[in-house]
Amino acid sequence: MAAAVGRKPSHNEDLRNLNLAGHVGFDSLPDQLVNKSTTQGFCFNILCVGETGIGKSTLMDTLFNTKFENAPASHTEPGVRLKSSSYELQESNVRLKLTIVDTVGFGDQINKEDSYKPIVEYIDAQFEAYLQEELKIRRSFYNYPDSRIHACLYFIAPTGHSLKSLDLVTMKKLDSKVNIIPIIAKADTISKSELHKFKIKIMSELVSNGVQIYQFPTDDETVAEINSTMNGHLPFAVVGSTEEIKIGNKMAKARQYPWGVVQVENESHCDFVKLREMLIRVNMEDLREQTHARHYELYRRCKLEEMGFKDTDPDSKPFSLQETYEAKRNEFLTELQKKEEEMRQMFVMRVKEKESELKEAEKELHEKFDHLKKTHQDEKKKLEDKKKDLEEEMNAFNKRKAATQLLQSQAQQASQTTKKDKDKKNASFT
Ligand code: GTP
Ligand code: MG
Repeated sequence: MAAAVGRKPSHNEDLRNLNLAGHVGFDSLPDQLVNKSTTQGFCFNILCVGETGIGKSTLMDTLFNTKFENAPASHTEPGVRLKSSSYELQESNVRLKLTIVDTVGFGDQINKEDSYKPIVEYIDAQFEAYLQEELKIRRSFYNYPDSRIHACLYFIAPTGHSLKSLDLVTMKKLDSKVNIIPIIAKADTISKSELHKFKIKIMSELVSNGVQIYQFPTDDETVAEINSTMNGHLPFAVVGSTEEIKIGNKMAKARQYPWGVVQVENESHCDFVKLREMLIRVNMEDLREQTHARHYELYRRCKLEEMGFKDTDPDSKPFSLQETYEAKRNEFLTELQKKEEEMRQMFVMRVKEKESELKEAEKELHEKFDHLKKTHQDEKKKLEDKKKDLEEEMNAFNKRKAATQLLQSQAQQASQTTKKDKDKKNASFT
């Protein structure tokens, strides 16, 4: 069978259109793509941003018609923490790896100034992990667990007034990093007329504050009409419930109140079906694509520019990665040499300083030693003089002592002689 190839006008004028004489088979290319993707499976990562108890977990359970294990968070968290849980889901032969990231403790702190930071950091960390994989020499995207956030459901409290400043600040910080889909949670707690006004108010506040929310794409004509209608319904007012109630002769997800029943999947009760249609059934692939082509691309560009990579040189000539790398390498080496030289000089200076300090200390020690030596000599001389005086005194004393002893013995002799004479005289008389 001859296949006539009809196609759009080509940009390349030299390209000729040819008619095939028979069936070749490349019309199966889309099927091949579908088969490959189906075998590989898909991944979809949702970030739920909203205050504690606003209905995040209930809505996720309702959206995916299952029960994800999720314990309620406490209201006493010191800061905002992101908790991610992944699940394998299967519908007919399509496998989906779904990751739900929850903002635990969001809106519970008295000072909410930094509440957005952990969320921004989490999103950036997932981009960074992907960029690191891309920059590896051996990349393995086939089994890479892509954790980049594809959709951020921003839960707005059904106050009927206006957006809180925390909502505006957080959405503003996130809008260049993620596809934000704002939703009014627990929409069964707000009346129909109030809800209408609330939606208009929210949209005008988002516009006046320059917050870019995700717009459902209208460039694909098969979904352009529904998507542009749905863009007009944003933010979706949703109700979540996993409870099934008998309505007529069918069981339906609903919330029962003393005065009536709110049916989750009834379009006149809330926008739940619109959200599910837009998020899962129509635009899931666009959300994935936008994440890669817009948000990740922006992150990648800023990060590479920060690292010094450019596409053009200062004269607007194309600059290859190799050239940039070499320029950066040279810059780095020059810088390194400069640093090395500086360190060397610093080291020499320090050594010189230490040397002169040591010399000074040595000199002081010598002076001290000389002084001590002189003092010691003086003391020694004084002591020797004293010793000499004492010796002289001792000699004089000894001489005097000897003279005295001599005199004493002479005197004794003389007295003995006199006594003997007297005794002789007395004997002669008798
Ligand atoms: P944390 O994970 O603790 O931050 O809470 P959450 O945001 O996951 O809220 P969760 O889904 O646990 O719901 C909190 C309470 O709100 C539960 O009692 C739900 O039944 C109720 N709830 C959930 N969705 C809705 C809703 O659409 N309308 C109303 N009125 N209540 C809801
Ligand atoms: Mg929860």
